[in-house]
Amino acid sequence: MSRIAYVNGRYRPWRDATVHVEDRGYQFSDGVYEVCEVRGGRMVDERRHMARLERSLAALRIPMPMSPAALGVVMRETIRHNRVGDGIVYLQITRGVARRDHAFPPPGTAPAVVVTARSLDLSGNDALAARGVGVVTVPDNRWGRVDIKSIALLPNVLAKQAAREQGAREAWFVDRDGMVTEGSSSNAWIVTEDGRVVTRAADTAILRGITRDVLIGAISAEGLTFEERPFSVAEALAAREAFLTSASQIVMPVVQIDGKPVGRGRPGPVALALRQTFHRYAERG
Ligand code: PDD
Repeated sequence: MSRIAYVNGRYRPWRDATVHVEDRGYQFSDGVYEVCEVRGGRMVDERRHMARLERSLAALRIPMPMSPAALGVVMRETIRHNRVGDGIVYLQITRGVARRDHAFPPPGTAPAVVVTARSLDLSGNDALAARGVGVVTVPDNRWGRVDIKSIALLPNVLAKQAAREQGAREAWFVDRDGMVTEGSSSNAWIVTEDGRVVTRAADTAILRGITRDVLIGAISAEGLTFEERPFSVAEALAAREAFLTSASQIVMPVVQIDGKPVGRGRPGPVALALRQTFHRYAERG
């Protein structure tokens, strides 16, 4: 089946889905993005993703290219054109096309919008979750505003590649105090010996994951104790369980950190239960 992408007002065949050489996303990483889960052909938590998109754009002073409702229509059309049942839809907005100059382009320069969608292998992901994944740790050398979902992802790219090269699925960034901030494309969690579910507070040092937000609600509703604080790599290794969250992986058990087992080295019951129950708490479009 041929893929279709939305590019600046048009639905285009994959081979023609191109952007201008002076798109500021291409030249400066001057843009933001969102990744939204698609389940049964519907977007999950669209409202929250749109709200985060608006926050990211406002932080970078990029105007919304169209209303959230209109963007929603484009995303749904892209999902439909690509016949995605279970997968993800990707939205990217840059400051637009202009003669290369670091400062902002003239007022009125239209933001550039790209939307793509693709299927994910749900049963493959479930099989992975049943085994659990490994993570490696890397120093967090990112800028100070990673709460903005910007497309400037070079440290994340290098971190993910380091993980791959060590046979791991994800890299966890560690700050100067030895505390885990988050993964290269996911949030990081542990379950302590006494059963508290812990993740770092969403300040400017992590991206506030939508999956994270929804899961916090699910944790309380399921009668578990939630704690928002940093944790160290040593604490994660000594924890009963660890896991990561993102729109594409939902809740993924972490069974190894830097080659050492977490808990018994198997996916834990809390992570697996939260993975099971997650979609009861998420909003389906
Ligand atoms: N990544 N932290 C980082 C650095 C991320 O890139 C992501 C998402 C998350 C989790 O956010 P959410 O739960 O809203 O997906 C945390 C997306 C999926 C990506 O880059 O593909």
